[in-house]
Amino acid sequence: MGQTDIEPLDVEAIREEYPILQREFGGEQLVYLDNAATTQTPDRVVDTIAHYYRHTNANVHRGLHQLSQEASIAYEEAHDRVAEFIGASGGREEIVFTKNTTESENLVAYAWGLNELGPGDEVVLTEMEHHASLVTWQQICKKTGATCRYIEVEEDGTLDMDHARELIGDDTAMVSVVHVSNTLGTVNPVSELADIAHDHDAYIFVDGAQSVPNRPVDVEAIDADFLAFSGHKMAGPTGIGVLYGKKHILEEMEPYLYGGMMINKVTFEDSTWHELPWKFEAGTPVICQGIALAEACDYLDDIGMDAIRRHENELAQYAIEQLEGEGDIDILGPPAGVERGGLVSFNLNSVHAHDLSSILNDSAVAIRAGDHCTQPLHDKLGVPASARASFYVYNTKEEVDKLVEAIDDARQLFA
Ligand SMILES: Cc1ncc(COP(=O)(O)O)c(C=O)c1O
Repeated sequence: MGQTDIEPLDVEAIREEYPILQREFGGEQLVYLDNAATTQTPDRVVDTIAHYYRHTNANVHRGLHQLSQEASIAYEEAHDRVAEFIGASGGREEIVFTKNTTESENLVAYAWGLNELGPGDEVVLTEMEHHASLVTWQQICKKTGATCRYIEVEEDGTLDMDHARELIGDDTAMVSVVHVSNTLGTVNPVSELADIAHDHDAYIFVDGAQSVPNRPVDVEAIDADFLAFSGHKMAGPTGIGVLYGKKHILEEMEPYLYGGMMINKVTFEDSTWHELPWKFEAGTPVICQGIALAEACDYLDDIGMDAIRRHENELAQYAIEQLEGEGDIDILGPPAGVERGGLVSFNLNSVHAHDLSSILNDSAVAIRAGDHCTQPLHDKLGVPASARASFYVYNTKEEVDKLVEAIDDARQLFA
């Protein structure tokens, strides 16, 4: 479907499912623009959580009683639902529930990287990686003697693909790239990067923390070997993340955490591992969160991922237009007109982003300020921090206007 055939979101109806958006601070209604950090949770996901604890709560896998069986089925089926959401035809065997994107990155870095990497091997990242990926691979490289290399970011916030082709070579064992940058909003050509990685027999790990919530993502169309994302950025609960991995790779990987639930046979001398994905889910897993995440997938699919993608891009483009109007705001990332994720990072003249964010807070406008876990990228851009407004399905152009008005107040204050 072309983007123009897509029905716009019925934002007013969507907002009714989010009582938190009615909150007021100092007499002003909340304008929540911190969605790249954490999105709000609609009633139907909150109801799923409450229903689970009221009616189904039990430990999974090991119980023979009715309640445990019900919880087990719901939990296991949640994996299938998440698989379907990202186009993983292998179903539950390719979906590991973790705590968050960060843990999914660490799982692969430890379970695969620690065993497979060595001196002479290279891990290729981008300069716009989130610390979840950058720090993790950097430290695994230190432990294994492998080397981290970084694909450069161009002036316009896009990846230098010539540099990518130069860096990814026969020594490359892993390419780890962020799909949508949480600082620049750039949408990276992950499918092209996957082709380049595979041409050199390297794996590709896609950080989908800012893409899976906001656009259709099909792991098989991208040909990702691994993909990670977090429930709390996609209308789901905190405490759950997802690691997708191609079945044949997960099968060959060692477990990351040891303990109960992940074993098959244990003796005093040795142990064997449970089948996928349970081999990677040691101990009591994230049962309620998993079931609620499946509900969040239903919720997002009911709205339509294509429509969400369009809505977010429109809000981001509108925000850029409005913010650029005064000429004293520096926008990070691709220029107006280039498709981006639903976020805009910026700096107002010499005002520190932290000061700006606390002034906006006086108008109940919630944004994020800081390095957004991309310190090396901020160093490269020559700014210590940036302010970031990020959008989700319930945000409106009127809220962007309130952001702009609140920035105007800050402008007066610092004039
Ligand atoms: C691109 C990206 N990767 C990874 C993460 C880490 O997510 P989490 O804190 O849920 O592990 C974030 C969170 O902001 C992110 O934006």
